[in-house]
Amino acid sequence: MSKLLYITVNPKNNVKLSKGMQIGEVFLEAFKQVQPDVEIEHMHLYDMEIPEIDMDLLYARAKLSFMGYTKEQLSEAERTKLEKMHALADHFIAADYYVFVTPIWNLGAPAILKSFMDCMFIAEKTFTNTKEGPRGLMTGRKAIHIQTRGGIYSTGPMVEFEMGDRYLRKALEFLGFELMDTVVAEGMDHFPKEAPEIMAKAKEAAATAAREMAK
Ligand SMILES: Cc1cc2nc3c(=O)[nH]c(=O)nc-3n(C[C@H](O)[C@H](O)[C@H](O)COP(=O)(O)O)c2cc1C
Repeated sequence: MSKLLYITVNPKNNVKLSKGMQIGEVFLEAFKQVQPDVEIEHMHLYDMEIPEIDMDLLYARAKLSFMGYTKEQLSEAERTKLEKMHALADHFIAADYYVFVTPIWNLGAPAILKSFMDCMFIAEKTFTNTKEGPRGLMTGRKAIHIQTRGGIYSTGPMVEFEMGDRYLRKALEFLGFELMDTVVAEGMDHFPKEAPEIMAKAKEAAATAAREMAK
């Protein structure tokens, strides 16, 4: 049986309030039509405790990497945060399919996504450094990003200003994921009359992508 992690990055905890999550639901339904037995785990990042990289984590990292300390010699806070980070990464690794749903916020993704992804960049766990450069270890796993945007970034003057999808795609690529095209629903806030049509198209694209990912 395969496992899909459904990662929603939005404080909205009701699907009716979130356009992105509405598209995400369509994706999941279409995926289940192809793989009815898939195990789906919903990670709603705002409901989770995600360690931030702070002084404890920086000390833990330095002590273990360069200063010859053992885990037992770390302070209580250092060890607790490091273990939390590794537990989160171990949990993340153990899936086959990954669906991220985010809105664009102030040109990027909500900051909690960065904190979450910071926990996933662990040398020798999710990537390794070789003479030829870094190599992702998350191979054999497929990922997709569903992103909602109030304005338009796919064409026009804002193309270069989009850094939410760009960041997530590059982070996932670095880690070795097989990436599918992002499903974008954009312009709903700036062109509200067109919102229903934009949403319908995005849902259709999400269903097509899900069937492709699941096959
Ligand atoms: C704090 C905040 C910042 C936002 N910044 C942007 C932005 O930089 N560009 C943009 O196009 N839309 C921006 N938006 C609009 C959202 O991306 C848009 O409403 C999106 O459809 C929300 O998706 P959701 O319904 O899934 O939450 C912002 C919204 C919020 C709440």
